[in-house]
Amino acid sequence: MFQQFLQIGKRMMAETDVHRVLTVAMDGTIELSGAERGMIILFDKDGETRFETARNLKKEEIDHPEFEVSRTIINKVKSEGTPVCLRNALEDPALRKSTSAARLKLLSVICLPLRYEEKIFGVVYLDNRTVRGIFAAETGAFMQEFADFISLAAHRALEQKCLRNHVHALEGELRGKYKFEAIIGHHPKMVAILKLVAQVADTDATVLIQGESGTGKELIAQALHYNSRRRNHPFVPINCAALPENLLESELFGHVRGAFTGAIKDHAGWFERAEGGTIFLDEVNDMPPPLQLKLLRVLQTGEFSRVGSTELRHCHVRVVAATSVSLAELVTQKKFREELLYRLKVIEITLPPLRARGEDILLLAQHFLHQFSTKHGKAGLRLSEEAEGALLSYDFPGNVRELENIIQRAVVTTEGETLAALELPMPPAPSVTSPQEKWSSFHVAKQHVVETFERHYLTDCLRLAKGNLTQAAKLADLHVTNLYHKLHQYGIDPAAFKP
Ligand SMILES: Nc1ncnc2c1ncn2[C@@H]1O[C@H](COP(=O)(O)OP(=O)(O)OP(=O)(O)O)[C@@H](O)[C@H]1O
Ligand SMILES: [Mg+2]
Repeated sequence: MFQQFLQIGKRMMAETDVHRVLTVAMDGTIELSGAERGMIILFDKDGETRFETARNLKKEEIDHPEFEVSRTIINKVKSEGTPVCLRNALEDPALRKSTSAARLKLLSVICLPLRYEEKIFGVVYLDNRTVRGIFAAETGAFMQEFADFISLAAHRALEQKCLRNHVHALEGELRGKYKFEAIIGHHPKMVAILKLVAQVADTDATVLIQGESGTGKELIAQALHYNSRRRNHPFVPINCAALPENLLESELFGHVRGAFTGAIKDHAGWFERAEGGTIFLDEVNDMPPPLQLKLLRVLQTGEFSRVGSTELRHCHVRVVAATSVSLAELVTQKKFREELLYRLKVIEITLPPLRARGEDILLLAQHFLHQFSTKHGKAGLRLSEEAEGALLSYDFPGNVRELENIIQRAVVTTEGETLAALELPMPPAPSVTSPQEKWSSFHVAKQHVVETFERHYLTDCLRLAKGNLTQAAKLADLHVTNLYHKLHQYGIDPAAFKP
């Protein structure tokens, strides 16, 4: 019995979903007590039923007049919090008074309160109609011990659920308030980034955005600008890699007449013209060293001078910079000034590559599909399951921009109503049987295949189960906790599969 108690207790504590906790608790109480039927009810703070689980008790039976005795007992336990253990309901004078004796016959009942910090938030009800006196007094006491375990597990699961809802609500609020609708992403790293963007947007702090090509660096820079009070001033993106040194200097800081051949009149640079706004220095890693010094100065003091002049000017411009290579690395190679790096990365945002964002791949694919199919008069176009699978297993070296291009090209060229995997202009998935191009160790290659398989399997399974975790776990014959961990590992959100 003690072994059983521990086993069931352990299983119950391993669950994080309220329904699963109640299911394990229900089966456990029936197993431990020898009851014929049972029910666990959790109440909300107004005393209304919030969750319930029953065994061998149908809805009709619960509503039936014969169940009246049980309802009386449940209500008593709910309001008084005292456990009830009746070997024979006929023995209870109070019940005998309130109900006809016929209905009481042969009924053995255990009813226990679920309590947390003195508050009753549920009850466990067990009965047996066939064996009179089946519940000994020790069983009642023992079951109350077990009920305290249920209370702990259920309360913890309820709190987690509450926390999850709270996070979802916060996320929604964040998007609504800061107009982040344009930025798609539910991956925890993206949510954390949006939160940081919301916190720092309206400050003057310099922000350094790092991330592979196409991960959305410019999009984040725009979000920083348009969610600040600078939004009515210019947002000026400058690509530091696209211009030769002297031109870049004159673009940024301006020049005076005669400063160089062709400088026929005075010219204000962006640090002047963008006054009050934001300058986005894209590919800042490519900024030539003499300009790095000038940039450092403007960041430190707000002062600069036009090319060909010594007159100091002052500006109030926020700088957001982006790089797709490690600036720290460039510092060690003496190609980037260390002080400038520290000035730039007052706030650091590192965008994860698309392949590490799990289900966000599908969210973004749907977003672009909607956008381009509407634009090209093909509204209603859908992705086939294979196409989704192909997208999930591709590693997107060009990140979101590449996904956007893939979807756009597929939308333009397709003639059907569903996009098939073959219509996506992507290189075929790497195969382990012909690994001529990229040879990797057995261990790495195997891991890749396993991950691809797991990802496909889990998404298929969730799709079949329409996002229901318990059902998906059943289909996969996995323990729900293991399934939950796997989904978390791959960033797959079951909610995305709910109809
Ligand atoms: N989270 C996202 N949600 C919606 N669209 C996105 C997202 N991230 C990127 N995009 C889109 O992908 C494209 C590339 O984004 P962006 O230009 O911001 O990336 P980048 O990191 O600056 O790229 P590069 O390094 O090539 O300059 C843009 O069209 C952008 O709108
Ligand atoms: Mg860019």
